[in-house]
Amino acid sequence: MNSLNLLALTQSGTESFWFPSQASTTAARVDNLFYFIFYVSLFAFIAIIVATILFSIKYRRTRVGMEPQDSPHHSTRIEIVWSVIPSLFMVAMFWYGFKDFVDRRNPPADAYQISAVGQKWSWTFNYPNGAVTNGGDAAIDDGEGLVVPLGQAVVMRLESTDVLHSFFVPAFRVKQDAVPGRYAYVWFEATELGTFPLYCAEYCGTKHSRMLATVTVKSQQDFDAWVLKAADDSDLPPMERGKKLFSVKGCIACHNTQGVRGIGPALNGVYGKQETLMGGATVTVDDNYIRESLLDPQAKIVDTFGATPMTSFAGQLSDDDISAIIAYLKSLN
Ligand code: CUA
Repeated sequence: MNSLNLLALTQSGTESFWFPSQASTTAARVDNLFYFIFYVSLFAFIAIIVATILFSIKYRRTRVGMEPQDSPHHSTRIEIVWSVIPSLFMVAMFWYGFKDFVDRRNPPADAYQISAVGQKWSWTFNYPNGAVTNGGDAAIDDGEGLVVPLGQAVVMRLESTDVLHSFFVPAFRVKQDAVPGRYAYVWFEATELGTFPLYCAEYCGTKHSRMLATVTVKSQQDFDAWVLKAADDSDLPPMERGKKLFSVKGCIACHNTQGVRGIGPALNGVYGKQETLMGGATVTVDDNYIRESLLDPQAKIVDTFGATPMTSFAGQLSDDDISAIIAYLKSLN
């Protein structure tokens, strides 16, 4: 494709009259193909218009009653020339377009995977180590958006919880729909540090136009440090951290917080309550009882919940984690 670089006549630096900066390895290839198609079309357009004008002047009717003269009505040579030459250009357009399309569908094996979930009207980005960021309608959240490392292939796994959205980063020249009920993939390798706009490019409802986020490209070193810190939730308020743990550790699978009995008891409004245990004794749900129930769930089982014993979280939760969960359960009163 390098030969096609010559066609990008209007470019200065990586930002051009037509395009934002070329911030990914794909960008130059997409742009070069665009310029190739553009200049071929421009040449054909001008050639046809000029010929039309010249012929209209040369062969116009100059006198009233002038009869058309005989002229050759077939030339095999001209027919071959104007069929074969444009065909070659079209085959080239198809070949480069198809090659790039196939390349877009096949991320490198060592690509770093980030999942993006689209919902009206924001994106949630999940990193492999558990870090989560958001971006979208500023009225909902003003998250820091997608963060990616420089010079590393990144594959986005796209999904949607409601309607069609589309993940579009103009500076990377990538666009892919996020479809409810299935995963779609798109990959890129950023080549420029900085922050670039990330659009939703599929009309998804009244605030579609505000589903704006950003992609921030950091050096690999900065990214590694950032993603570690982003996954670390130790500076969250205990109640918030407890809420996150409640879902991350899977408590929510057996205990809901809407007062509905599940496999285990609902946990809203239980803090401070007196419960009757199997065997008739009673216990007050306090910090120590919650702690014991997490570490040794079989010790004191509330009556009628003996059938499906809970597994112990000993070794899975630090003292801080336990305090955070207690703070969360307290907040549900
Ligand atoms: Cu989401 Cu448009």
